[in-house]
Amino acid sequence: MKSAILALALSLAVTVTAQEFLYDPPESYYPDQSESFKLVVVSSNGTVNGSTLSACHSGAAIETLCLSNVGSPSKPSDIPATPFNFNVSSSETTNTTNGPGLITYLLRGGNFNASSPMQFSYNPGSNVVTAELSPSATGQEVSFDQNGLLYISSYYDDTKPDVPFNGELTKLYRWYACNQYFGGYRYFSLAWVMGEGKPQNPTCVKVDVKRVAL
Ligand SMILES: *[C@@H]1O[C@H](CO)[C@@H](O)[C@H](O)[C@H]1NC(C)=O
Ligand SMILES: *[C@@H]1O[C@H](CO)[C@@H](O)[C@H](O)[C@H]1NC(C)=O
Ligand SMILES: *[C@@H]1O[C@H](CO)[C@@H](O)[C@H](O)[C@H]1NC(C)=O
Ligand SMILES: *[C@@H]1O[C@H](CO)[C@@H](O)[C@H](O)[C@H]1NC(C)=O
Ligand SMILES: *[C@@H]1O[C@H](CO)[C@@H](O)[C@H](O)[C@H]1NC(C)=O
Repeated sequence: MKSAILALALSLAVTVTAQEFLYDPPESYYPDQSESFKLVVVSSNGTVNGSTLSACHSGAAIETLCLSNVGSPSKPSDIPATPFNFNVSSSETTNTTNGPGLITYLLRGGNFNASSPMQFSYNPGSNVVTAELSPSATGQEVSFDQNGLLYISSYYDDTKPDVPFNGELTKLYRWYACNQYFGGYRYFSLAWVMGEGKPQNPTCVKVDVKRVAL
C-alpha cells in the first residue's frame, strides 16, 4: 500500500514537472532587446531605394512590413517609419547587434502591449513568402551583418545533395519588395523568396534591408 502511494506520488510529481516543462515556457526565449531602429530598403531600383518599412494593418493583430514610401491600393500615401527592436536569447554567443534573433514590433492595444516578432507566412502556391508581424514568443530567426544588412543563415545547401553539412553557415539575402495580397489587403511589402530561383510574383523588386539607428 505504502509503495503504491509512493508510486502514485512519484508519477504525479513527474506529471507536474512534465507539464511545467511543456506548458510553462520561460516568459521570453528572446529576452535581450536592442534599442529601437528603423529598417531601410536598399535597392538598385530608385523607386523603392531609401524607403523605410512600416507595420501595416493586415488583419486582427497582424501587420505586414509595407514600404512606407511606396504607394499601394491599401496605403496610397506615405506613412512614417515604424520603430523596430531586435530581441536575442540570453546566450553568450548572440548579441543585439548581430543576432541571431527576432525583429520585434510592439503592438499597442487599448489596454495591452504585445511583442510581435517578424515571422514568415507561406503560401504553398508560391515561392514568395510574406513577412508578417503578430504576437508570439517565437518567429523567424534573422541576423544583421557588419554593414547592418539583414540576412538568414542557411546550414544546408540542398542543391548539392552529396555535400554533407560541414558546420558552415551561408548568409542568404533573399529579400524582395512585392505587391502582395495578404489578409484582404494589398501592400507593396517585404517578402522572402524560397530557393535560388526568381520570385514568381512579377512585381517583386530585389532589395536588401538595412538597420539604421533612430
Ligand atoms: C523582447 O524583449 C522585451 C524586453 O525584454 C520583452 O518584453 C518582449 O516580450 C520580447 N519579445 C519576444 C518576442 O520575446
Ligand atoms: C539609394 O539610396 C542611397 C541613399 O539613400 C544612395 O546613396 C544611392 O545612390 C541610391 N541608389 C539608387 C540606385 O538609387
Ligand atoms: C522599380 O520598382 C517600381 C515599384 O515597384 C516598379 O514599378 C518599376 O518597374 C521598377 N523599375 C525597374 C527598372 O525594375
Ligand atoms: C556580436 O557578436 C559578433 C559575432 O558573434 C561579434 O563579431 C561582435 O563583435 C559582437 N558585437 C558586440 C557589440 O558584442
Ligand atoms: C505600452 O508600451 C508603451 C511604450 O513602451 C508604454 O508607454 C505603455 O504604458 C504600455 N502600455 C501598457 C498597457 O503596458
